[in-house]
Amino acid sequence: MKNLTMVIFGGSGDLTRRKLIPALYRLYKGRRLPKTFKILGVGRTGYDDESYRSHLKKNITEFVEDKERDNSSVDIFLSFVHYLSMDQSQEQEYTYLKEKIEQIDDIASNYLFYLATPPSLYERIPLFLKSVGLNKGRIVVEKPFGYDLKSAVRMNAIFKSAFSEEQIFRIDHFLGKETVQNILALRFANGIFEPLWNRNYIDRVEITAVENLGIENRGGFYDSTGALRDMVQNHLVQLLALVAMEPPVAFNEKEFRDEVVKVYRSLKPMNSKEIAKNVIRGQYMGVNKTIKGYREEKSVDAASHTETFLAMKIFLANWRWEGVPFYIRTGKQMPTKVSEIIIHFKSTPHRLFSSREECPEQNQLIIRIQPNEGCVLKFDMKVPGSGFDVKQVPMEFTFDKLGGLPMEDAYSRLLEDCISGETTLFTRSDAVEESWKFFDPVLKFWKENTDVPLYGYPAGTWGPLESETIIDGEKKWTNPCKNLTNTDLYCEL
Ligand code: BG6
Repeated sequence: MKNLTMVIFGGSGDLTRRKLIPALYRLYKGRRLPKTFKILGVGRTGYDDESYRSHLKKNITEFVEDKERDNSSVDIFLSFVHYLSMDQSQEQEYTYLKEKIEQIDDIASNYLFYLATPPSLYERIPLFLKSVGLNKGRIVVEKPFGYDLKSAVRMNAIFKSAFSEEQIFRIDHFLGKETVQNILALRFANGIFEPLWNRNYIDRVEITAVENLGIENRGGFYDSTGALRDMVQNHLVQLLALVAMEPPVAFNEKEFRDEVVKVYRSLKPMNSKEIAKNVIRGQYMGVNKTIKGYREEKSVDAASHTETFLAMKIFLANWRWEGVPFYIRTGKQMPTKVSEIIIHFKSTPHRLFSSREECPEQNQLIIRIQPNEGCVLKFDMKVPGSGFDVKQVPMEFTFDKLGGLPMEDAYSRLLEDCISGETTLFTRSDAVEESWKFFDPVLKFWKENTDVPLYGYPAGTWGPLESETIIDGEKKWTNPCKNLTNTDLYCEL
């Protein structure tokens, strides 16, 4: 693509300043943007081009590290950025948008429309763009795509009435992470895992993506969203799909996304009894007046029942995974920020070294998405000396050993894909609906049964203890430490 005009709806919002503009600047600096480009931020705040540029300059300074940035290139980059103050929810205002685009774009460019607005606007913007003939180029939409199954189906229909599926990029930024893409390399570029990657050898899978922050200034959005819609229905189930999928015939937009959809279709539906047993939700509480509880956060209802923590046991109904529990968990205000996947292999069929005092644990493969990106394979070895003590030891790889991960974040990679029209890493309409089909009954169950417990947990802890009840037998959640190789349950962080 030689030229690009990108319009960011929600141009004065948080996502734009924290993620999109820094990512676009990185692409510019790396000469990865088209030769001629214009970026138009659109929003209600009353900036003009100049004041918008100085607002963004501050954010680039804050969110792009010193070594990646230099003042003169920031200024040149920003000279291609414009702003239009408009009410994005009003159809008549789109005429001004069209005029502004024509004014800044003198070459009838390729368009990229990015919806970084509150989700309530997603149903209107595509139609308003169509009404002024701007349904050209590509449209990118942030998650959550839909509020439940019904609204997701409705949204798909609205988007498709204005744009074709190839023009629609439903973004899930987890798929832009190097380490998430690396799950595919780990599984499908190595011969040793695939023969073991099934119900015969795997006991259970844990997927944890937790954060040590609260909801910051996103109270209004979060209180009507909650952890299930914010993290689980998209990011976590996407990670689950990468772990559980069959090898695609090829890594392309059709074959890869077909396999993702097949995983979603095999998510075993739960009845009310199973939901009550297998889904635990929680909400963080304040600690010592130093950390606010969720209900004290700005723009949050003082009696809110929104979950900030969710733990869930999920089964897949297919040949490979029948009977293997997938435990997934997410939460705000946890002890640390970490995302990791643990594959727990089954024990050996016969315990040869039964005389030892402590039985070593089963083999584990830990895939660390962030931080300390890498993986660890844990296996048992004999402790040197008399007797026959066996101890679990780690064999580890971290990305530092490959020269470290590139500084860029997931958004740079995904924006580059949007610009080049590469849809493989974006969620297809059928995937959104299949995933909602599984999670929708959970939301309905909560709505219809107001007595479903919402457990409080003190900010800075690993969530409600009740989340342990969904794990079978004596096993427990693995609470990851900053140090990748230390798996003591409540280790120091
Ligand atoms: C976003 C959620 O999609 O992902 C946020 O809306 C969450 O609530 C964020 O904090 C986590 O992403 P990352 O890349 O920081 O782990």
